[in-house]
Amino acid sequence: MDRFYITTPIYYVNDKPHIGHAYTTIVADVLARSRAAYGEDVVFLTGTDEFAQKTVDAAKKAGEEIRAYTDRMADLWRSTWEKLGISNTDFIRTTEQRHIETVREIWARVAADGDIYKGKYEGLYCKGHEAFMSEDELVDGLCPDHKTRPELVSEENYFFRLSKYQKQLLEFYEAHGEFVVPANRFNEVKSFVERGLEDISVSREKREWGIPVPDDPNQVIYVWFDALVNYVSAVGLEGWENHPADIHAMGKDITRFHAVIWPAMLMSAGLPLPGQVIAHGFFTIDGTKISKSLGNVIDPLDLKKKYGNDAIRYFLLREIPFGADGDFSETKLKERYNADLANGLGNFAARVLALAEKEELKLGKLDPEFETQIGGMKRTVAEKLGEFKFSEALAAIWAAISFGDRFVNEKKIWEIKDGEARKQALFDLVSLLDNIAAVLLPFLPDASVKISKALAWEGDVLRAKKTETLFPRLK
Ligand code: MSP
Repeated sequence: MDRFYITTPIYYVNDKPHIGHAYTTIVADVLARSRAAYGEDVVFLTGTDEFAQKTVDAAKKAGEEIRAYTDRMADLWRSTWEKLGISNTDFIRTTEQRHIETVREIWARVAADGDIYKGKYEGLYCKGHEAFMSEDELVDGLCPDHKTRPELVSEENYFFRLSKYQKQLLEFYEAHGEFVVPANRFNEVKSFVERGLEDISVSREKREWGIPVPDDPNQVIYVWFDALVNYVSAVGLEGWENHPADIHAMGKDITRFHAVIWPAMLMSAGLPLPGQVIAHGFFTIDGTKISKSLGNVIDPLDLKKKYGNDAIRYFLLREIPFGADGDFSETKLKERYNADLANGLGNFAARVLALAEKEELKLGKLDPEFETQIGGMKRTVAEKLGEFKFSEALAAIWAAISFGDRFVNEKKIWEIKDGEARKQALFDLVSLLDNIAAVLLPFLPDASVKISKALAWEGDVLRAKKTETLFPRLK
């Protein structure tokens, strides 16, 4: 069986999941589910990134002991994905033994290659980014993203010889034209590397929270060097050698870590590189940046209660073209819910099932126009999924729903007197609905399963039955 290995970033535990994190995880879930539907053996990894400085601060603020705090938060992330119907096959925490051992092993391999050396580092460290920043990235002395003053850090650190991999990285990019998607992000990555790479500091001095550097208990491994390795830890070194990740999914903020530093680390450790790094845009909420201090953070579980998981997925995937920045608004979500889900898919399914329930239908031959519609829809969906154009894939499915709706309205099936003609029209419609449910499976798993169940074939006889209302209209 073909294997497919996909990952999300591992999320920081200083806060609970918001709609931005849910978006990345849902994108990965759609891809995982679509490959599982093709019969592939899917490994779908997500998890939590716990050894960050901001974890220490958050635990302190919560008045909790750090282990207890991270346990509670990791459970919260894990259960959120479960409640959102995410099909991850594994969940990794960086505080797990399997991860700590792998990080130390990879460090040792990189060091054995002569790619780690000790040096003095002085720089401005932004805890929000968990990264050093240069003076010219600051605005009025503050990090423009986190609006905080980076702390001046001056210490002895271990460095990773990133500069050594410039040529090798550029050659790799050249040979793998779709390593980063979308293409504009790939161009950014390439020109960053072309401008020349500096070695990076990969440890911090005298910190209690972190994975100790092998043979130097005075230093802990820098959180990004640690975090990136999670993708190997989950499948083991041998597992990764046999089949590295096919896709790392993430937001555009962390592409550089995944498309530059991570491949260089793997090259140094003598491990194969991942297939693709796919990066989506960032979204605002009602036009404003998502931020706790602004109080506009949306908890996906609140949305689930009101609209259901399928509606969240549909809105995010349909509204925001993959790769572009977008805006999330509950008003727009509700509009799309009523127009596309309640009146569109839900209403079409209900009409077809109500008509089909009254008739004994047999497997037959599809009308050529329906055959063309169904074939075209399936081809477009597969093609658009392959290009990560989720919005266009959904648009193709909704075009097929409109075709079906028009057919029902124009044919007035309930008025057709001729039994055979009526049966043929219904068979065509039921087949269309059946195929719509099949292509919807990775996108809207709940609705898809309900529709498929309502269309049970017993041998070559169809027993259709009405379902509960798929998407009740909202006021
Ligand atoms: N822990 C690191 C990742 C390590 S991976 C080896 C990290 N964690 S994070 O919790 O900050 O998650 C960042 C990710 O959350 C982004 O890459 C993106 O996937 C998602 N998003 C966070 N805010 C977002 C928006 N406003 N919009 C869209 N996605 C957002 O970085």
